[in-house]
Parts: sequence; C-alpha cells; structure tokens
Amino acid sequence: MLSEAIKEQKKYIEKINKINKDKNLKYSILTMGCQLNENDSEKLVGMIEQMSYTKSESFNSADIYIINTCCVRENAEEKLFGKLGELKKIKENRDIIIAIGGCMMQEEHITKKMKRSYPFVDIIFGTHTLYKIPQDLYKTIKNKEKVKDVIDILGEIYEGIPVKRNDNKRASVTIMYGCDNFCSYCIVPYVRGRERSRKPEDILKEINQLAMEGYKEITLLGQNVNSYNGGENYNFATLLKQVDKIEGIEIIKFISPHPKDFTDDVINAIKQSKKVSKLIHIPLQAGSTEILKKMNRKYTKEQYLELISKIKRSIPEAVFSTDIIVGFPGETEKDFEDTLDIVKKINFEQIYMFIYSRRVGTIADKMRNQIPEEIKHKRFERLKKSYEEKVEENNKKYIGTTKKILVEGYSKNNEKMLTGRTDTNKVVIFGGNQDLIGQIINVKIISEHKWYLKGEI
Ligand code: 5AD
Ligand code: SF4
Repeated sequence: MLSEAIKEQKKYIEKINKINKDKNLKYSILTMGCQLNENDSEKLVGMIEQMSYTKSESFNSADIYIINTCCVRENAEEKLFGKLGELKKIKENRDIIIAIGGCMMQEEHITKKMKRSYPFVDIIFGTHTLYKIPQDLYKTIKNKEKVKDVIDILGEIYEGIPVKRNDNKRASVTIMYGCDNFCSYCIVPYVRGRERSRKPEDILKEINQLAMEGYKEITLLGQNVNSYNGGENYNFATLLKQVDKIEGIEIIKFISPHPKDFTDDVINAIKQSKKVSKLIHIPLQAGSTEILKKMNRKYTKEQYLELISKIKRSIPEAVFSTDIIVGFPGETEKDFEDTLDIVKKINFEQIYMFIYSRRVGTIADKMRNQIPEEIKHKRFERLKKSYEEKVEENNKKYIGTTKKILVEGYSKNNEKMLTGRTDTNKVVIFGGNQDLIGQIINVKIISEHKWYLKGEI
C-alpha cells in the first residue's frame, strides 16, 4: 500500500522532473555497508531516476552525488571523509549537488564534524528520512538551501517507495527495520530505531511482483529477521512458509537471524522447504561465554553449539556461515581460544571476520579494558588462518554431489566457462552455452580448487 507520505513525495518528484527535463543530468551513488543499505540505495536510485537523472558513466561526470553511509565500523568514516575530499575538488569546478545520508548521519558527532569541516555538502539525511529525498532535493534546487533532515525517532515504515534493482534475477526484500537487541558493541539500534515489521501482505505482494518479473532468488533482510512479527500467530516461520509457496521463486535466503530467536518452527520451515537455502547464516560474534555475556548476546558457547547440532540433526545437509568479532574489550587469550575452538568444531562455509571497533555511544566503548590494536590484528590473522586451513577439506564434501546453480555469466578468470553459485554461496565454474545465463540448472561438482569448485552440467 502506498503510504500517504510517499504520495506527498511523488509531488516533489513531479516538480523536480519538470525542472530537470531535457537537461540530461547524471547521478552517482556510493553505498557503504550491509545489504540493508544496498536495498535502501535501490530505493534512492528508484526515486532519483524518476526525477530525470540517469546513471553517470564515471565518478567525475555526475551532477548529483549521493553517499549512503554505514557506521558499524570505524573504517567507514575514513572512507566517507576521503570521498568528501574528492567531492570538494569537483564542486570547486562545477555546480554539483552532494547528498550524504544513511546510518552515519544519525550520529551527532559526525554531523557536527561535517558542518565544521565539510560545509559544502548540500543535503544530509538520516535513516528515517531517506524517503524524503525528493522534498529535500527540491529545497536545494529551488532555493540553493543547505538541508539537514535527520530525526531521532523509533521509526516508521513507508510502503511504495520506487525501487531500481541492481540485478534482474536476485532481489533483496527488507522484511523488518531496526533492532532492539542492543549488543554492547553495536551502533545499529541507535541509528536505525526500534524493531518494526512490514505487513505480511506488503512483503508477499512485493515478492509476487518480483516473481512475475522473472526474479528467481529472494533474500529476506532485517537486522534480526527471526524476530519478525507479522501480527498474531504470524512469525518468521509463517512468513518463510508463505514465501516458499510463491511460484517462480526458486531460492530463498535470509540475513541475519539472531541465535536466541532461532526457534524450532523456523528450523522446521527451512527443513520443509525445497527453496530455502541450506546455508544458514548464524552470527556467533564470540566463542567465549564470558565475552558473549559482556556483548549482551543472550546465549552461551554451549547454547550456540547446541543450536547448530539441533539444526544439523533436523536438516543433515545444513551448512553454516557466521560473523565473528575479535578483540572485544576484556577478551583474554583464553576467551579467544574459545572462538577458535568453535571454528574448529563447526565447519563454517564462510566466516565474516571483524576487528572490534569502538563506537561512540555504545556500552562497550565505555569499557575500560580495551584491547591494544596490535593484539587485535594478531588474533584476526590467527582466526583467518584457522578458517582458511579448513576450506579445502570442507570443499571435498561437494565433490560428486549435484547442485542447483543460478547461472550468472562467463567466468572472469576463464572466459570459456560459465559461472554461478550453489545455494550455499560456493562459486562453481562449468562449461556450457550462453543461453543458460539467468537460468537455474543442475551441475555436478567434479573437483575443488579452494576458492571455487569445478562442475559439469
Ligand atoms: N566492531 C566490529 N564489528 C562489529 N559488528 C557490529 N558492530 C561492530 C563493531 N563495533 C559486526 C558484527 C555484526 C556485523 C554486521 O558487523 O559481527 O554481525
Ligand atoms: Fe547490532 Fe546485535 Fe542488533 Fe545485530 S542484533 S544489529 S549486532 S545490536
């Protein structure tokens, strides 16, 4: 359903359209961070393209620059300020519009710094005002106004924002926004507001539409997908079962669930579905119960291991990926070994590894026993090594199996071979015809090569 607020924005889209028509204006967008941000950017582009901007071929030739920021780790800040330096030079020579938005703009110390050091930025918008970019842009175009449109609220849901998708076979669908968990290291609950779920009918309508347009793979997105609340007796498991019924959608993924909400009905819904990927991403964050407690994760090392075993018992073909943070305040050598121990016990298909990064405003930032950078980096390298040592051994289980592959195109490293991914995200290359691109086919895996598998149709 189209929200009233979006109807209002459509009027601004029309107004800008009139101003921009026949000017051949270009946009450039840079997205930092997670898939939720990518999905937000697809909405930004959806609106921008309706306002007569087309995608610029190179970074240097755009008329409007949009950066959708992330603030989960410190390196995103360095990246933003670097880009702003580049944009300053462009703006000295040409009349461009710069709009910076997203998570980092919800942080007051950042917007203050921007005002001080980067006053040439035209529009600053937050996570709760992304949908208002037409209105903010109109003010800038019409009156040359500098606009700061950031609000700190629990959060709303806006249906009906135009979307321009990055891909024509795979699509992401946000099912819930915000987070109530307040893991002590994490800034997300402060910048994205409280948990709120889209209505099941809005989600299902969007996915049905995508299926009709030929999309085959859907990723359900949320900061904490398995606390999805679609109303009375309607939880994440119910939603998974409904999405499973949609004809045309052949692969269903979801990120990220929280271990504490991984209930039996979710496990059953995954088990019963032929479409839901059996690569399940379950963020661990740390292996030590002591550290998990300080992180406010609400599970112990043993409970995590038991959850994985339970899923394995129910779904023998299930495999796992995870997120791990090293160097959380107070992490001792023994705590870190608990993390390595879990990595040894569970053959993760993939581990997204992060060095703990202090975030202003979080509980962990105020903890006194911060770990020196050098130790954090050394632990990171050790974790990486212990994972990489197991990749080949782990890959061997694929040899001789037949996997469902969405064919992406020709391989970059070997132009005669086609490439695609298993539903467990392994890259596979195989010989075949061009007309297979975009289709889902069965490929038999014949050998493993650490970072990819080779197969035959
Ligand atoms: N430092 C390092 N990693 C972090 N993450 C979240 N906050 C931080 C932080 N302050 C990681 C977590 C989360 C992933 C998206 O980013 O592992 O699951
Ligand atoms: Fe951050 Fe924890 Fe919420 Fe994930 S569950 S977004 S890590 S607070």
